[in-house]
Amino acid sequence: MSGLDVVEYDRMDTTDRLEVVTLASTGARSTLVADVRAGLAEPPRSLPPKHFYDARGARLFDAICDTEEYYPTRTEEALLRDVAPHVIARSKATELVELGSGAARKTRLLLEAMLAEGPTRYVPVDVARDMLVASAEALLADYPALRVHGLVADYDQPFLAALPEDEGGRLVAFLGSTIGNFTHEEGAAFLGRVGSQMRGDDFLLLGVDLVKDPAVLHAAYNDTQGLTAAFNRNVLEVVNRELDGDFAPEAFDHVAFYDTELQQVEMHLEARRPMSVRLDALGLQVELSAGERIHTEISRKFTPESTERLLSDAGLVLADWWTDSEAYFALALGQRARS
Ligand code: AVI
Repeated sequence: MSGLDVVEYDRMDTTDRLEVVTLASTGARSTLVADVRAGLAEPPRSLPPKHFYDARGARLFDAICDTEEYYPTRTEEALLRDVAPHVIARSKATELVELGSGAARKTRLLLEAMLAEGPTRYVPVDVARDMLVASAEALLADYPALRVHGLVADYDQPFLAALPEDEGGRLVAFLGSTIGNFTHEEGAAFLGRVGSQMRGDDFLLLGVDLVKDPAVLHAAYNDTQGLTAAFNRNVLEVVNRELDGDFAPEAFDHVAFYDTELQQVEMHLEARRPMSVRLDALGLQVELSAGERIHTEISRKFTPESTERLLSDAGLVLADWWTDSEAYFALALGQRARS
């Protein structure tokens, strides 16, 4: 194994089919302090989207994925159902590494296509250890020819270096258009770090939400049940709990709109009245005026060209591309550019 800081190593299964390694991590919590200081102390105010996902935020996101308006999850799932065998035939992968695996909802489609070709190893990478272990155990129960090597890690860590060598090719999956929550520069830098850990015959499978009718995008981020609004406000609950704050989340309006020029949805929280907010853990007092916004998320929408540019700026080339019949969502297959 590499010189990475492994803080825990578990062989959890008597048949040796499940290993879980926990890598030392700075974790989302410790970056919250720096992110809040950098983003809230002065206007223009912002908070990075990674802080949405405490247990309640993760539940709200799951509920958003099931709404009528939020098409990306079901569209990507249907697309994967159609093209998984082609992705596996093209990549010839025998190992699936999934970044931010969560409950591994869409993973089964790829694993089944891989298992149809032979023994397969699944490498979920996620910070949520309990969820990773629970979903690994469910997969092992259903697929006797599967081995799982879980990495409890922030997927920004050099996680591939922590993997035991394997003979076959790897498919590194980053699904759900999570890459859209990064700016172009952040996304290219992140994919560049992933790509630099990939070998010549490894592939990256990237889920990207596509540019489309702004009305469809507006509805997806303004669902009628108010789940996206609750998800957006939840970041203030996280800040209150972790940093001893007294934000009144219900005093903020959820604002989400599509910027056609930047090709991105933006989410903000808009103060309904002037507010003085204390963050005792930081000794910080934040004065907000009525109408002032906290920028909480971008969700970029892609075209084949902008996806190719993103991959290229990460040192990767677009090897293949699949989309649904409405061209709502795409799966891009990337490979290291030959030097
Ligand atoms: C996780 N990410 C890809 C979602 C998105 O669509 O950008 C997060 C989300 N924000 C509001 N609704 C869903």
